[in-house]
Amino acid sequence: MDVVLDNSVADALPLGAKAAVDQRDVRTWRLDDDGRQTMVLAAMGGRLPQVVYWGAPLPADEDLSTLQSAHELDVTGGMLDENPDLSLCPEAIRTFPGQPGLILRDGDGTPLLPKFCYNGEERSEEGLTLTYNDDANGLTLAFIFATDPSTRIITAKTRLDATRPVHLHWLAAPVFPAPQQSDEMIDFAGRWTGEFQTNRTPWSAGMRYRENRTGRTGHEHFPGLLVPLRGCTNTQGEAYGFHYGWSGGHKMIAEELPDGRRQIQFGHAARMETKPATTFQSATLYVTYSHTGLNGCAVSFQRHLRDRIVTWPDKDRLRPVHYNCWEAVYFDHKLPVLQDIANRAADLGAERFVLDDGWFGQRDDDTRSLSDWTVDPRKYPDGLTPLIDHVHSLGMTFGIWFEPEMINPDSDIHRAHPDWALGGEDQTLGRQQKALNMSLPEVRDFIYDRMAAILSVHQIDYIKWDHNRVLPMPDADQTRGSYALIDRLRADFPHVEIESCASGGGRIDFGIMQRTQRVWLSDSNDALERLRIQHDAALFLPIAVTGSHVGPRRCHTSGRIFDISFRAWVAAQRHMGFEMDPRELDEREAAVLREVTAWWKHNRTWMLDADILRLDSADKAVLAEQQMTRDGDKFVVFAGKAATSDQIAPRPLRLTALDETARYRITLMNRKTAPALSRGMPALKDGPIEVSGAWLMHHGLILPWNFPDTMWVLEGERL
Ligand code: DGJ
Repeated sequence: MDVVLDNSVADALPLGAKAAVDQRDVRTWRLDDDGRQTMVLAAMGGRLPQVVYWGAPLPADEDLSTLQSAHELDVTGGMLDENPDLSLCPEAIRTFPGQPGLILRDGDGTPLLPKFCYNGEERSEEGLTLTYNDDANGLTLAFIFATDPSTRIITAKTRLDATRPVHLHWLAAPVFPAPQQSDEMIDFAGRWTGEFQTNRTPWSAGMRYRENRTGRTGHEHFPGLLVPLRGCTNTQGEAYGFHYGWSGGHKMIAEELPDGRRQIQFGHAARMETKPATTFQSATLYVTYSHTGLNGCAVSFQRHLRDRIVTWPDKDRLRPVHYNCWEAVYFDHKLPVLQDIANRAADLGAERFVLDDGWFGQRDDDTRSLSDWTVDPRKYPDGLTPLIDHVHSLGMTFGIWFEPEMINPDSDIHRAHPDWALGGEDQTLGRQQKALNMSLPEVRDFIYDRMAAILSVHQIDYIKWDHNRVLPMPDADQTRGSYALIDRLRADFPHVEIESCASGGGRIDFGIMQRTQRVWLSDSNDALERLRIQHDAALFLPIAVTGSHVGPRRCHTSGRIFDISFRAWVAAQRHMGFEMDPRELDEREAAVLREVTAWWKHNRTWMLDADILRLDSADKAVLAEQQMTRDGDKFVVFAGKAATSDQIAPRPLRLTALDETARYRITLMNRKTAPALSRGMPALKDGPIEVSGAWLMHHGLILPWNFPDTMWVLEGERL
């Protein structure tokens, strides 16, 4: 990153500028990330800086103080004599016409209206910290940026220090302008078994305000935003991406000001700092600019998450194929049954066996025993050792389920320590449970001891860490308490990987991913639903962390039946696993699953590091993606048929991000599965074809006709 400090004093005031300013004292800074984006910050005098440019790279010799003045808006009737800055933290006291970036009160409750002034800065190869003081109120505000030339993500956070305890209502991470050439923004909603639903909202005067007050990231509130410019698609055009890495619930403001400017603010949900303090910090806001469509943002987020955020206990270890027993046995644990299931799972290709809910306390259903983390002697009279030994004898590793932050009123621990539960006694329960108060050290110690007791006597390399209810109220201490517990366990059991699950995808964000290695994306093992959820989650999540399991023949959450081939290929798009009862598989189903699993294992060495590029499918019934190595030499295209097409013949599927002049060999690897109703002979049905990148991107592949709920899988290789 280049950070250029330019303290130039411009020659003259532009005509009509406010007379009170007799000299232009402009400070500028520039962030570059090796050719994809430039961000320019500029400030007049000692005021807070504004982002005066963010987008395609600017020439190295661009005059930044000129940009500062050229960025200034005109003033006409009915306006203030100068437009208040849309700074990194818009200040209410400067008559800013929109939402301020900071709202706080003094220790005694008096509202404070801070006004900050330049204090200093620190620069490094890839980082920039700018510090501002408000001496009258005893406050210091710091903006901390870093660029990453490899992933193209810029990280940004804000820190507030006070000379005495103050109450924080709202602290935004550094505030960015949103582009004027954009007609809409894309953010995310969702529900249990329906995560990552995209919302497209047109820009208009006023604000789009999203605030998650559930205390966890939630299915409903993935903290991300994409701002495409007019004409942007998955594969082309310009877009801006934002993600707030925090698991306690976020607030987002996307506001169009009366003067037409637009601002984006992200921070913790308001008022979740419940105590006065002298230091507050936002979580990290991850941002990026792309000129290669939404895919440019998606690939940056995918790479940054996989290569910079997740810490892998053993980064050379390939992601093992999982078997999870939840949908096979639920709470009904019987050693011989589980051993039989483990035999079959290993035979299908599983490499890790995960024992889900039901092994502890008196947990025969979901009404009791959460927090009684001792092995149930009725189900496991000799403890877990016989099952774990059996799993190991099959060459699989062993994982186990916990829901550490939760407690059932019907549990020994709740009877002994009712005060450990968060929220009032008369609160509404969620799945018959309460959350533990994670801000209490004795609670964290207790859970740590119980979990450590299991982890230290068994060879366990994996925890599925669940969180099945929202909190009674948002509280940042709760999130920090959860983080502290995970951090302590990881420090003491560094070989153990953790999967973040919250009734499926209820806790997915870059904050939890700093501490975990996998997400359970959804409780929906319905392949059709999963295809869609995976497709949209790929805007942020890479293959390596996204769990996807082959579910039962009749899906337990949708009641639908899908062929094993579709179920297996959908799971093979991400970190593959099985979750059905393998005893239900007939010979054909087992053979197909074995084959697809073997294909996945053969390809995972490169696929787990590949980028997921969403394709612009001409047929809305087809959800397609191209998973490609960074050098572009190898790729696989998954074209999922999610419905019956409107038109009779398949439309060409254009690929993306290839070298126009290179030639590629394309193999439809499952062409033998074409149904009898596919009567013609498009070339791909006959065998591999060799064509140019230009043809693949401008004409596109003609796939054979297929039924809905099927997947074509194409392998591509640069010749
Ligand atoms: C919710 C999870 O999402 C499921 O996969 C399973 O682990 C259950 N909890 C167990 O109670």
